[in-house]
Amino acid sequence: MTRSRLALFAVSTVALTLIAAIAAPKATARARVQDEKPFVSAASPVAAGEYLMVVASCHDCHTAGWTESKGNVPAAALLAGNPVGFYGPWGTTYGKNLRQIADRQTEDHWVEVMRTVDGGEGKLPMPWHDAAKFSDKDLRAMYQYTKSLGPQPLKLPRGTKPGVKPTTSYIDLTVRDSTGK
Ligand code: HEC
Repeated sequence: MTRSRLALFAVSTVALTLIAAIAAPKATARARVQDEKPFVSAASPVAAGEYLMVVASCHDCHTAGWTESKGNVPAAALLAGNPVGFYGPWGTTYGKNLRQIADRQTEDHWVEVMRTVDGGEGKLPMPWHDAAKFSDKDLRAMYQYTKSLGPQPLKLPRGTKPGVKPTTSYIDLTVRDSTGK
């Protein structure tokens, strides 16, 4: 190397190091947040997501017939939503069709919705406050598994406002006293 080439090399090395130093803190901060929490380890993120959806009871509310059949549902029904409503002080909600959601939304958006309780709008009985605590890795694994199932355009009934009973079958989650009131 000639002296001027050597100088150029030295300058570009310094420049690269500086760029790396500026770019690094963001990446490390993010990685650290992810690494503090436990996550499921499996052969692939899709396999981890498949496992998590079962053990975290997501199918109970998001797969029609899951509970009744002890998990023996056709592949077409997996996470495609549940038309049995959940009625309570919030009105009626339905376990959403997660396959359509994963098909339409990005992975980052899925994480954002789970972390923020859907921007503070999330309704019961979705266990929002537990789900917000999943590690990033687990949330992403669940998204990737759901996405891998492919879209399934099953339409769910519309939810109702507080005080309005649904016209579909529903589970009543109203808290009552011992007299049934
Ligand atoms: C007890 C029933 C129940 C369980 C268990 C449940 N969910 Fe839900 N989930 C719901 C209901 C109901 C909604 C709709 C809530 C609303 O309208 O705000 C919902 C909404 C969601 C949404 C929001 C979709 C969107 O973008 O609007 C996601 C994602 C989701 N659930 C994923 C999961 C995952 C993952 C699990 C397992 C860790 C899970 N749910 C467990 C009932 C449930």
